[in-house]
Amino acid sequence: MKEVLWIEGGHPLKGTLRVSGSKNATLPLLAATLLTEEACVLEGIPDVQDVRMFLALIEHLGGRVSYDPACGRVCIEAKNVSSQTPPEEVVKRMRASVLTMGSLLARLGVVEVSLPGGCAIGRRPIDQHLKGFEALGAKVALQNGHVRLQASGLTGHGVRFAVPTVTGTENLLMAASLANGVTTIENAALEPEVAELCTALQKMGVDIEGKGTSKITVCGKKRLGGFVHRVCRDRIEAATYLIVSALAGEDVVLEGVPLEHMSAVVDVLGEAGVQIEAEDGRVRTFAGGDLNPCRVRTAPYPGFPTDVQAQLMVLLTKANGASLIEENIFENRLMHAEELRRMGAAIEVESPLARVLGPCKLQGTRVLATDLRASACLVLAGLVAGGETLIEGLHHLDRGYERMEEKLRSVGARVERIKA
Ligand code: EPU
Repeated sequence: MKEVLWIEGGHPLKGTLRVSGSKNATLPLLAATLLTEEACVLEGIPDVQDVRMFLALIEHLGGRVSYDPACGRVCIEAKNVSSQTPPEEVVKRMRASVLTMGSLLARLGVVEVSLPGGCAIGRRPIDQHLKGFEALGAKVALQNGHVRLQASGLTGHGVRFAVPTVTGTENLLMAASLANGVTTIENAALEPEVAELCTALQKMGVDIEGKGTSKITVCGKKRLGGFVHRVCRDRIEAATYLIVSALAGEDVVLEGVPLEHMSAVVDVLGEAGVQIEAEDGRVRTFAGGDLNPCRVRTAPYPGFPTDVQAQLMVLLTKANGASLIEENIFENRLMHAEELRRMGAAIEVESPLARVLGPCKLQGTRVLATDLRASACLVLAGLVAGGETLIEGLHHLDRGYERMEEKLRSVGARVERIKA
């Protein structure tokens, strides 16, 4: 029997939801701990599968990990890291393990990783990561689905990415931190998680200019120190709960919403007719009357995040008219549209476009989550659908949302994990 999520829709939600630490900020920070022999402490990290798997990976590589999930604190000492090969089954299951490439290459001079390959949302090549490592002097060899990087000392160099890649920029920042001389990264990703990694690297002793801009200059150091760092709140989880609150909230208050990094989401929600009011770090949404249809294009930060596109699609099924969503980051990230259609939504997909015809009443049924954000989308749909929804594929949800059912139950949702 499989574990599925059972949701009984239609219950108005009331109460307070607290946003967790950011998964996508935590993962590169964990990778950065491999750059030093000294102890590093991270606080406010979310207890999600991707984080747990990354910690297991660090242990596998020889690092010492002491993790307290109850308070979201981890202390890592990577003094004895010697393995240069993250296990294949982990790389296959957790794409973010590519983030070990930059730090292991810089620290050990060699790293071998099985190529992560495509995943449910698209091809996801790593050519830009490899181009960056090569520019710093690494030899790249691709064989039998593995990539081997080797360098007897990295040397700083100028790199211009063809596309602004988030984990590519993070990987290169880490490699450049132990390189000899200055590296300049142009067309760097602007995502706040990249800037947060820069902050931690600065705490480790690296000189960095241009943090938070598309041109980052890194002056490498021979040795790096440890750091203590509190991870920022998860802007994607926050956006997910803002949409929950707009869809089903009677009086929901969100705490810990990093609104300063969410202007594109706030703007689109505003256009749809959802007003957001923030006071003393507490955020409420108001969706009086009919929702308006919108045109939304996903784009790199500060544009509308691809990671919120699926959740927004549920909101737009309730808007009064035709909305158009354009998914520009990942070519296969509209699979949730088919599941929403099975719940009664009127959505036409011609990739990269999805036309959502609202308003329509969703009806609960058995659906399949195909990736992390698609699973959040189906939870949102289940909360507003008539009757019962059963969601399969929960391992996706567990990768990136901390205690989602518990949080939703605390505001009155009827959500249970059951065997079915
Ligand atoms: N790309 C290339 N070549 C490369 C790297 C990327 O062509 O070498 C392309 C990709 O195919 C894509 C675009 O560049 O079209 C952007 O991809 P990016 O590399 O920025 O994505 P990522 O670093 O693999 C991170 C997040 C994703 C998030 C994307 C986009 C982490 C661990 N993952 O992935 O998060 O969707 O940036 O913002 O930070 C999620 O949390 O659900 C998730 C998938």
